[in-house]
Amino acid sequence: MAEKATAKTAVLQTETRIFEPPADLVDNSNVMQWMKKKGFKTEKEMRSWCSENYVEFWDEMAKKYVDWFEPYTTVMDNSEMPYFKWFTGGKVNMTYNAVDRHAASDKKDKLAYIFVPEPTDQETQKITYGELAKEVNKLANGLKSLGVEKDDRVSLYMPMIPQLPIAMLACAKIGAIHSIVFSGFSAKGFGDRVKDCEAKVAITTDGFYRRGKAMPLKAQADEAIADAPSVEHLVVYKRTGIDVDWKDGRDIWWDDLIEGKSDECEAVPLDPEHRLFILYTSGTTGKPKGIEHAVGGYCVAPAQTLDWVFDIKEDDIWWCTADIGWITGHSYIVYGPLVLGCTSMIYEGSPDYPDFGRWYKIIEDNKVTIIYTAPTAIRMLMKQGSKWPEKYDLTSLRLLGSVGEPINPEAWIWYRKNFGADKLQIMDTWWQTESGTFINSPLPITPLKPGSCTFPLPGYNATIYDELGNEVPLGEGGNIVQPTPWPSMLRAFYKDTERYQKEYWSVYWDTPKRGTYLAGDKATRDKDGYFWIQGRIDDVLSVAGHRIANAEVESAIVAHPSVAESAVVGKPDEIKGESIVAFVTVITGVEETDDLKKDIRTFVRKSLGPVAMPSEIHFVPDLPKTRSGKIMRRVIKAQSLGKPTGDVSALANPEAVETIPLIV
Ligand code: WT7
Repeated sequence: MAEKATAKTAVLQTETRIFEPPADLVDNSNVMQWMKKKGFKTEKEMRSWCSENYVEFWDEMAKKYVDWFEPYTTVMDNSEMPYFKWFTGGKVNMTYNAVDRHAASDKKDKLAYIFVPEPTDQETQKITYGELAKEVNKLANGLKSLGVEKDDRVSLYMPMIPQLPIAMLACAKIGAIHSIVFSGFSAKGFGDRVKDCEAKVAITTDGFYRRGKAMPLKAQADEAIADAPSVEHLVVYKRTGIDVDWKDGRDIWWDDLIEGKSDECEAVPLDPEHRLFILYTSGTTGKPKGIEHAVGGYCVAPAQTLDWVFDIKEDDIWWCTADIGWITGHSYIVYGPLVLGCTSMIYEGSPDYPDFGRWYKIIEDNKVTIIYTAPTAIRMLMKQGSKWPEKYDLTSLRLLGSVGEPINPEAWIWYRKNFGADKLQIMDTWWQTESGTFINSPLPITPLKPGSCTFPLPGYNATIYDELGNEVPLGEGGNIVQPTPWPSMLRAFYKDTERYQKEYWSVYWDTPKRGTYLAGDKATRDKDGYFWIQGRIDDVLSVAGHRIANAEVESAIVAHPSVAESAVVGKPDEIKGESIVAFVTVITGVEETDDLKKDIRTFVRKSLGPVAMPSEIHFVPDLPKTRSGKIMRRVIKAQSLGKPTGDVSALANPEAVETIPLIV
């Protein structure tokens, strides 16, 4: 196994503001209770003990958060690196921990979910743990009646409605392996993934609501599974009532499937290494990777990280705005919150329907206490200005969160001001589909620096290595890595061991650091040890001998008061190697003038230095983004250089590609 990693990147940005956590947040935090119990005096001491003694730490957490049908005999087994195992020898079931035990306790009548449909004439639905248990059991029995057994794959292609977690939990209960495909993916996107995991059953809906309109979904599912011979049945939940084609013998309505089925179903005791789900993530090269996650570790780590980072209390109303089809939704709308027995929001639709006040209204109406969202959403709302948040009462909020990409300090400050009355702390969580849980994140006790995901969480050991596996000194950059395993880590790629080994484990395999996980991101640490994520290893500019992270230049551009979003690409330059070209969208109402271009360039020059100053600025109406909100630099670069844009199936707004001008 040998793969080349990147060279060092320059560190240009300096952020000096520090936001201390308020004393009452610190004193009442879950992590502080644990620290007191253990006798830790400082955050630093606690974090480093937990990281050094990570096996002991996770052992304690596994016992605290999870009920095991049979206790495990080994906490962590690294005898077959890079195939790590956790909690072996035990027996466990996710749905038992996430639902059944709450339904059988005082939590029976507590709300598991508050579901807000997109159409404003449909009522909010409240689902208790007791009700959730029954719905899950009926569907689990329905799936069994279709012949679904332990280890069978079930593909889910569904919008953001409570039936999606119900379907996940029904699979998990009987040991079937779910594989969700985000409902915004095309028929081809769904089809490729169904075929890859050889699903026996697929579940979809007739349609879904988007910006007030009922849109078809089953039609795409039909197209996708037309040539997926493994799929024996397509279960269809009726969400909108729109017309659908029907294939007798294959298709079955959800309601007919659960009709007359018992609302009781035994949870199957599973080996902790049994696969809970497969989730596809797009790599840098074409074919999506089916990331496999294991049930034992997943019962423990999403719940534990959520409990400590977002400090979940009995009466919190937690809102993670991600789609359940992404890892963020798997871990922090479904498995983490349910294992904790907490109440979560599920919102079906767009943030701008019927207007840009929708999210704020949901917070006000439901007294949401903690919101966890993505920088791209924050920037979109920021672009609409403060007039929207000002109209609503957001005082129920007590903590904020961010995930998905580096949050530029400008958006961070806006988020804190407009959602957080200028006083709430922001948990900037750095992690991945592969990690299953946050790896680096502040805790409620951590002093914050805007744009930094601070430190590795307790039980994690993230650090920064050069290509040879040497830890780089503070103040320098390199590859962010995890030298030690963790319970919710990926276990494999579905049927592709070679690629699994190559992508994550090969760079350090032949160094003394064998067994180190390469995350694929670049990062730096400042003099205080705070981590700053600089983006993916392959998103790097090479300007006059300096390696500069695209994200850093973009962040500096977006700090300009007239700018909403920005993507920078490198344009081949005979002298400098690459020159920096920036595509910029402006705040609504701002005029796109040459003076503004000049001003933005000077602005970047002042904040990052002349080397990072874009040589060209182009105003565009919109930037091509993935459906999870990440700017697609690869596509922007190809389009602007007049090259083929390749596969754009992951794009949420393919029409934005054409608006990118040629720069050569
Ligand atoms: C990649 C993982 C984690 C769930 C959503 C995305 C980037 C994620 C942050 C953050 C800087 C971040 C990284 C990472 N990323 N969170 N807080 N700060 N970068 O999951 O699609 O697997 O993407 O998203 O580049 O590797 P994903």
